[in-house]
Amino acid sequence: MKLVSRNFATPDSHKLAVYEQSGGYARIRKALEMEPQKIIDEVITSNLRGLGGAGFPAGRKWSFLPKGNPKPRYLVVNADEGEPGTCKDKYIMTYDPHLLLEGIMIASWAINSHTCFIYIRGEYVKQARILEEAIAEAKAAGYLGDKIFGKDFPLEVIVHRGAGAYICGEETSLLNSLEGQRGWPRLKPPFPAVEGYLACPTIVNNVETISYVPWVIELGGQKFAELGSERNGGLRLYSVSGCVNKPGVYELPMGTPLREIIFEHAGGLPEGRTLKAVIPGGSSAPVLTAAEIDIPMDFDSLAKAGSMLGSAGIIVFDDSVNLVEALAVLIRFYAHESCGQCTPCREGTGWMRKIIARVLDGGGRPADPDNLLRIANNIIGRSICPLGEAASLPVIGFVTKFRAEFEEYIATSRKVDAPATTSRMAAAL
Ligand SMILES: Cc1cc2nc3c(=O)[nH]c(=O)nc-3n(C[C@H](O)[C@H](O)[C@H](O)COP(=O)(O)O)c2cc1C
Repeated sequence: MKLVSRNFATPDSHKLAVYEQSGGYARIRKALEMEPQKIIDEVITSNLRGLGGAGFPAGRKWSFLPKGNPKPRYLVVNADEGEPGTCKDKYIMTYDPHLLLEGIMIASWAINSHTCFIYIRGEYVKQARILEEAIAEAKAAGYLGDKIFGKDFPLEVIVHRGAGAYICGEETSLLNSLEGQRGWPRLKPPFPAVEGYLACPTIVNNVETISYVPWVIELGGQKFAELGSERNGGLRLYSVSGCVNKPGVYELPMGTPLREIIFEHAGGLPEGRTLKAVIPGGSSAPVLTAAEIDIPMDFDSLAKAGSMLGSAGIIVFDDSVNLVEALAVLIRFYAHESCGQCTPCREGTGWMRKIIARVLDGGGRPADPDNLLRIANNIIGRSICPLGEAASLPVIGFVTKFRAEFEEYIATSRKVDAPATTSRMAAAL
């Protein structure tokens, strides 16, 4: 079964006429006949979780909007998609921008918002253009603007391009960036639903989350919930990359076993290779060993196993991958992307980068695995936003679960003997 990926292979699927041929914009017509609260109730029943990373139930978030607050409400769609290993929102925006717009219309009606921003990462130039074209088509058809579908309900959708900072995917940094300020996270509470864009009540939802909303309306909350696993409704897009025969984006039910995704849908590993490790939910998610992949891919099961479903970016490592080098790439990313506002994250990620660089360069010390663990554990819980955790959890996972590989690397590497690739990597760090 396919829902949000249903039109991906249809020629010209990004055009309004093609979208309408497949039943597009029927759900917003239905929604406009419903009471806004009824839509929120259906989304709560559907168990639709936030698919940007944190997995917060979408309907519950919408119901946190303060009642009786005279300020305008905003909907902000998070299209920053910066998590390494994740490329699903890009597919929706490329191949089905009208599905996202229909989701925006339904959500806006439900929460009574007349302005929606789509905050899109700067590198998605093509997708920003496709969205602009789709918005123009919808406007010309009377689906956006002063009256949507003839109803006395104005709605504008504005595409706002970011400048390529991972931190601006974090919702409060995103809001600061949208306001024209430096993309630094805000302390929470207050949460954006209470005080968000320009201190007004604001719902921030991921592209994929909003794109499932038309399907909740079409199927009904209960039916949508039944497609997934307990408390994790519906389907979702899994991005699979790394050492598999068929990397790609697969839409499957919530709770699909990780083993099935890797070995059936993504075609398994290259011949002769064995599985070493898997990152299940984007690079911030703690790594799983080959023995841990018989697990349902939903938020609750992965949390129970000490990892995260996050953005469902699955990165597969086979036995050809050196995990010390793989972790070095991740540490470098987080140290580069730490915004620098708070000391534990700014300094801690920098220290971890220096340590892993010297390990790669043949200068590692026996205490370095513990040094990495100590620094990572001191960042957790002490940073303003979860980027600190995002940087630390992979370190703790890799070093704890594959400690022998780190110790062997340190014991056997010598500066003069270090292979050229390693030295180049260390220099790049
Ligand atoms: C460092 C960091 C980066 C993030 N990047 C993204 C992102 O690129 N896209 C996204 O949707 N959520 C991202 N998030 C999560 C958002 O803060 C927020 O939880 C999400 O947009 C809410 O939408 P959802 O409830 O639909 O998932 C990020 C969070 C952190 C801490």
